[in-house]
Amino acid sequence: MSKNEGDHVSRRHFIRQSAALGIGISGVSIPAFGQQADEGHTREGVVMSENRRQLLTRFGLKYPIFQAAPGGEALAVAVANSGAMGAISLTWDSPEQTFELVSRMNKATKGNYYANYVLHFEPKTLDKALEAGCPVIQFSWGIPNKGVVARVREAGAKLGIQVSSKRNAEKALALDPDFLICQGLEAGGHVQATAALGATLLEVLELAHDVPVVAAGGISTGHDIRRVINAGASGAVLGTRFMATQESDAHDIYKSSLLNAGEDSTAYTICFNRDWNAAHRILRNSTFLEWEAEGCPDTGSKPREDDVVADHPIFGPAKRYETVPPMQGHEGTPEEMAMYAGQGVSMVNDLPTANDLIVRLWNEFENPQA
Ligand SMILES: Cc1cc2nc3c(=O)[nH]c(=O)nc-3n(C[C@H](O)[C@H](O)[C@H](O)COP(=O)(O)O)c2cc1C
Repeated sequence: MSKNEGDHVSRRHFIRQSAALGIGISGVSIPAFGQQADEGHTREGVVMSENRRQLLTRFGLKYPIFQAAPGGEALAVAVANSGAMGAISLTWDSPEQTFELVSRMNKATKGNYYANYVLHFEPKTLDKALEAGCPVIQFSWGIPNKGVVARVREAGAKLGIQVSSKRNAEKALALDPDFLICQGLEAGGHVQATAALGATLLEVLELAHDVPVVAAGGISTGHDIRRVINAGASGAVLGTRFMATQESDAHDIYKSSLLNAGEDSTAYTICFNRDWNAAHRILRNSTFLEWEAEGCPDTGSKPREDDVVADHPIFGPAKRYETVPPMQGHEGTPEEMAMYAGQGVSMVNDLPTANDLIVRLWNEFENPQA
């Protein structure tokens, strides 16, 4: 079965369009136009653009590698302390949890991490995060309004916005962000994008000028990072790849499923929509296959939809089709939960520490033969 047979949203044609164009990180290479960049070559032979330099300086980074929001505190600390950009997710945390988590992150790192808010939901704890001294706020799934941006700026925090089209890139750039994340359809997790990364990245870069753009979706290796940087991105966001690390808070069964996944293992779908009806990319697990075999019915007619598939000492019971992924501490049948994965998952074959992974990614970036 091909990947596209797992697509169940109305935007199917975008995937076909992208495939027809030969666009994709792991497939036909993106035309390199990073050559507009400025000052000489780095050791890896890729032009170090002024925007990449800005990104590294602005956030105190050694590597232009960003963790995506999931993975938990230990992973975020490990990524940041390895010289890359750590990330935490604050959308669903309470004000107290937010304040404590940000305070701990500030103590444990040099402030090279960002906090993600999914704007499909109200960013209720934003003021708490800012009060605790969160250095960088990054929004996805929506463009923040001017009031929200003013609160971020008044607190002295930096601003990142995820975009996935020319149209929302224009809106985001009007807010003068410190960086953009450009997400492509290859991404794991909830997928705001409706087109492949290669196509959207070129459009967004044309608009972004001196605002650094960090590419996300299907990126698993240093070679993938080189391709997006050669195309003009200033860095890369890796979600799925970082979930399969020692420090990530993903359940062991989720981690081993990522390691065993192949090229046709993901589906772009709305299967797990109990608490958020949005497109996402997951591994084709038993819950998905059963739902697909029944013709992808709507909520209310889904197979076994009232099952509690796992329980967690902090997060409580998880029903089938909920968006929560299997995390450490989940007891039950975690394999039946939403195991988010991007299209680069077939290149995820081991469980390194975050630091070993980052060093390897950069070695691959610098050495095309590695
Ligand atoms: C387990 C998981 C959870 C995610 N949760 C979020 C989230 O809370 N907010 C968000 O903006 N993106 C989320 N994403 C998407 C990532 O931000 C990013 O776009 C994606 O992981 C990049 O694609 P990749 O997984 O192929 O590297 C999630 C991704 C994964 C794999």
